[in-house]
Amino acid sequence: MLQSAAKVLSFASATSVSRGIAAGIRHYCKNTPTKLRVSQALSGAELGSNIKVQGWVRSVRAQKANVFLHVNDGSSLQSLQVVASSELSDPLLTFGSAVEVTGILKKSPHQKQPVELDAKQINVVGECNPVDFPFKIKERHGLEYIRQFPHLRCRTNAFSSLLRIRSEATAAIHSYFKDNGFVEINTPIITSNDCEGAGELFQVEPSGPDYADGENFFSVPAYLTVSGQLHLEVVSGAFSKVYTFGPTFRAENSQSRRHLAEFYMVEAEISFTQSLEDLTKVMEDMFRFATEHVLAHCVEDVDLFHKHVTPGHRDTVDAMIKNSFPVITYREAIDILRRSSERFAFPTDWGCDLKTEHEKYLVKHCGNIPVFVTDYPYDLKPFYARDNQDHPERTAAAVDLLVPGVGELCGGSLREERLNLLSARLEEAGLEDVYSWYLDLRRFGSVPHGGFGLGFERYLQCILGVDNIKDVVPFPRFSHSCLL
Ligand code: 4AD
Repeated sequence: MLQSAAKVLSFASATSVSRGIAAGIRHYCKNTPTKLRVSQALSGAELGSNIKVQGWVRSVRAQKANVFLHVNDGSSLQSLQVVASSELSDPLLTFGSAVEVTGILKKSPHQKQPVELDAKQINVVGECNPVDFPFKIKERHGLEYIRQFPHLRCRTNAFSSLLRIRSEATAAIHSYFKDNGFVEINTPIITSNDCEGAGELFQVEPSGPDYADGENFFSVPAYLTVSGQLHLEVVSGAFSKVYTFGPTFRAENSQSRRHLAEFYMVEAEISFTQSLEDLTKVMEDMFRFATEHVLAHCVEDVDLFHKHVTPGHRDTVDAMIKNSFPVITYREAIDILRRSSERFAFPTDWGCDLKTEHEKYLVKHCGNIPVFVTDYPYDLKPFYARDNQDHPERTAAAVDLLVPGVGELCGGSLREERLNLLSARLEEAGLEDVYSWYLDLRRFGSVPHGGFGLGFERYLQCILGVDNIKDVVPFPRFSHSCLL
């Protein structure tokens, strides 16, 4: 009965779901097929049952008697092998087409896959012309090539792996904070403060005929956030552990491999801190927890990167997890750079900002594992960084985490909680009026506190070994590019 139903449908050469339904699929079947995701089918669930999978064709191979397909629906890297009699073959069944396959899930006689779907019916839901489709069957396209097609690249193995890893890493980071007593705070995306002048700001203005030129919707200039820190600091006046994880915007005129105009930042703020160690512990624990989680839950996806995209990177990741992260002061960092025989493009005098070339050198010097650099010159850091009062080399209690391949992954500091010191610094900068609310936080129940921000895309670059930040974000935004 099933067999004849399949024939009816294949001869009809169904090109749409509606045609399949019109043909009365379900009436011909003894039992309604169970709809499974590809990952569920691969796990052997419903072995021997009549099932239905829906997805996109990743490979198609016709032999005399049979046609073999691989169908993928994004639930796993591995696709489900479908074996169909050649009677079910259809010229529209091409690489990239969307299909709906019904059949019996069976143990596969081949070692390559645990199960295969013995197809009784195949509907081509969405056609795909393989000549025009920019990805070609059996070709392993490079990340740079697929980046040209932001609307299609999720259909490649590499980018779908990246998206699953990104999703799992996001979940891991939320779990870490939840398990450790942090409360998630949704800090605003539109804000009237510019945090620290951390980067160039995007100004937010309404558009449309109702708004005259130059009219401020909020009556004050408003911007897309460059950091949720100051809002977290507000909440840390009542909650001792808070975090936020959301989009962050910087109008940096840079096309570099580690800068985006829109990126995700994980930020934490902790009250009642005693030293920078209270921050470095959280950064290190979170890094290790999230990385171990991703390695354990995305084995095949991570392997794709570590074996095919960035061979050899797995050893670097293993070393990052195994070893505790060394801590050096900025002074020690400068000494290391000055002693090295490397010729740097930028100066390495005390007081100079560390550039990517310096950061990468320091990481290598410390064994190619993440390294904390602490106690930066006071003048290099924003107004909120806590003064170490260590004259003559005046430093601030700030810390950056530098990681292999990327350089700076996290930036943080203890915050200046002493009202007199903070107001003096703000006054010096002419900012005491703008930040009067911030000074209030120090007037009413001020406690020593501190926090940090981690660039989520840089984190993914670091664990996967991906060179360009544009390859770890679904839709990259950077200067002169905002596709889609
Ligand atoms: O060091 P940053 O500027 O720190 C802050 O914004 C603090 N207010 C955070 C805090 O203390 N709550 O940024 C934090 C991290 C950087 O270390 C880097 O990894 C990432 O954010 N980052 C970027 N990632 C991608 N594209 C950019 N343009 C980035 N700018 C910073």
